[in-house]
Amino acid sequence: MKKSIVLYGSTTGATKEVAETIAEALQIPAVDVAQCDVRDLGSYEVLLLGSSTWGSGELQDDWATFLPAFEKLSLKGKKVALFGTGDQEGFSDTFVEALGVLYDAVIRAGAEVIGSCPVDGYTGRSLAVRNGSFVGLPLDDDNQPEATAERVKGWIDRLRTEL
Ligand SMILES: Cc1cc2nc3c(=O)[nH]c(=O)nc-3n(C[C@H](O)[C@H](O)[C@H](O)COP(=O)(O)O)c2cc1C
Repeated sequence: MKKSIVLYGSTTGATKEVAETIAEALQIPAVDVAQCDVRDLGSYEVLLLGSSTWGSGELQDDWATFLPAFEKLSLKGKKVALFGTGDQEGFSDTFVEALGVLYDAVIRAGAEVIGSCPVDGYTGRSLAVRNGSFVGLPLDDDNQPEATAERVKGWIDRLRTEL
């Protein structure tokens, strides 16, 4: 498997829990962006980035602080997969929009993004949807917590073939 890392930002712990599940399943480290030195990321070939969405479609706070330094990295030749938690009932039009923010940043930095997901009945206007698919794994732990484990497992199984 390519050298991979999970990097996450989480305010109340929902995304952190998902990040740790993914890391355990793939036997790779999970690091909180609040504790990450961007200079340590150069050697990784695959970055799995997780962020919840706050405000109205904004990155989680620690990610917002980390992004300016992260954006300066060249991600050419690297693969990036995105995941995040959100609330599609309370914030329908900005559901998991942080994934859209991260998507734009990593595409600008030259990464190849893997792990997109079908919209599956979601009809809002989130910028995490591009060309008819979510750019990563959208999780609604606020309204559908019972579905999270299976969604995460299915996503990891699909990703494994690309890692
Ligand atoms: C003030 C506030 C604003 C939020 N804004 C959004 C939003 O714009 N889009 C969304 O999908 N979820 C939104 N959420 C829901 C959180 O993203 C969700 O609860 C998430 O699971 C929190 O994850 P974390 O504990 O990893 O930070 C918001 C929640 C709060 C309390």
